[in-house]
Amino acid sequence: MNVLLIGGGGREHALAWAISASPLLTTLYCAPGNPGIAEVATLVPVDVTDHAAVAAFCAAAGIDLVVVGPEAPLVAGLVDDLNARGIKAFGPTRFAAQLEGSKGFTKDLCRDFGIPTAAYERFTAPEPAKAYIRAQGAPIVIKADGLAAGKGVVVAMTLGEALDAVDMMFSGGLGEAGAAVVVEEFMTGEEASFFALCDGENALALATAQDHKQVGDGDTGPNTGGMGAYSPAAVMTPEMVERTMAAIIRPTLAAMTAKGHPFQGVLFAGLMITAEGPKLIEYNCRFGDPECQVLMMRLKDDLLTLLLGAVDGQLKTMSARWYDAAALTVVMAAKGYPGAPEKGSVIGGLDPLKGLDGVAVFHAGTALKDGLLVANGGRVLNVTATGASVAEAQAKAYETVARVDWPGGFFRHDIGWRAVERERAAKR
Ligand code: AMP
Ligand code: GLY
Repeated sequence: MNVLLIGGGGREHALAWAISASPLLTTLYCAPGNPGIAEVATLVPVDVTDHAAVAAFCAAAGIDLVVVGPEAPLVAGLVDDLNARGIKAFGPTRFAAQLEGSKGFTKDLCRDFGIPTAAYERFTAPEPAKAYIRAQGAPIVIKADGLAAGKGVVVAMTLGEALDAVDMMFSGGLGEAGAAVVVEEFMTGEEASFFALCDGENALALATAQDHKQVGDGDTGPNTGGMGAYSPAAVMTPEMVERTMAAIIRPTLAAMTAKGHPFQGVLFAGLMITAEGPKLIEYNCRFGDPECQVLMMRLKDDLLTLLLGAVDGQLKTMSARWYDAAALTVVMAAKGYPGAPEKGSVIGGLDPLKGLDGVAVFHAGTALKDGLLVANGGRVLNVTATGASVAEAQAKAYETVARVDWPGGFFRHDIGWRAVERERAAKR
């Protein structure tokens, strides 16, 4: 079969890498892709915001399945527009993508269907939000309702920070995304990313991961899209996975079906494992980036078969198997990220890393310029490795990072620290 993958980040490189190994695949296309993806797929210069153009390409190339990587095209209704033209697509419809596109939508759904999450209120003006914050006290969490590229959440430790966040959002600091806000209870616990493949009716638990959102070592500095990740997340024991499926994932699927908009695609639950059990921090309606990179390294079964199972409503009888090995990815970012990243610096040293056992260097914001690989975005490379333990995967990933010749980049030195400490403590 012929597949068109939409997106051009590290997540899509990992998806392309997995799909390209499928026995079901004839040709893999990707739009817009990147130079790393070009090694396993044919890049096509289709504007993915032009849904009619995407559909026209699908008809011309005989595409059997479109796989949508990022959230923006899902929220924009690409899947709806493809389905309307009879083209199969993996990912939720525009309505169902509100689980990520609108924090208020998700909070109301949790309230209406008894799904555990932080207590909250929604606001469309600053004064009532401030009055609520004063009544609740700090710490407290302020969230822009819409998509804000991971920058829409302020965890305010003081009342002053909370009130400033309200002013920032309502004065347009995050554009349209901040026209409405959610104010919610501050939760404590360990965070985990949990992924479930959904076919509208059934959910199949995928693997777990932990992300490192902050830019600096020791979890310091501003939030980013994610500076590294590892899988599995030890906090997600089999028992915790089942509790999450029972209390959060399955009720969400039932709720979406009750609303007349079944959810098909990946449900990515950001969880807080609290003293009372798992609680939903937020939903994303696609694979995590960079969590997907570590998941794909551990997936034993054919990804394309699983994605088709979701699109065709066949997950009930399917399972996904994972290698026991841990996987860890280190994001190499361009200097300046998460502010304005410096573009155009030359990246070398990648060729000898190809084909190394248990190592994959996924491309995110890279480009080719005059035959040279250059940085072309914030997060640029995802250096990923597997190992018998997280500590081993970490050591192998950082050995590989050291071989990348890129003075214009930087990375965190402590990806996986929580798991590595846990492994050490368990040995003592
Ligand atoms: P989000 O974009 O909603 O995943 O939020 C970004 C980060 O803010 C999360 O990964 C958490 O670390 C933190 N966060 C969000 N909501 C809460 C909450 N209610 N309590 C504590 N921390 C939170
Ligand atoms: N790494 C977090 C995300 O993909 O949203």
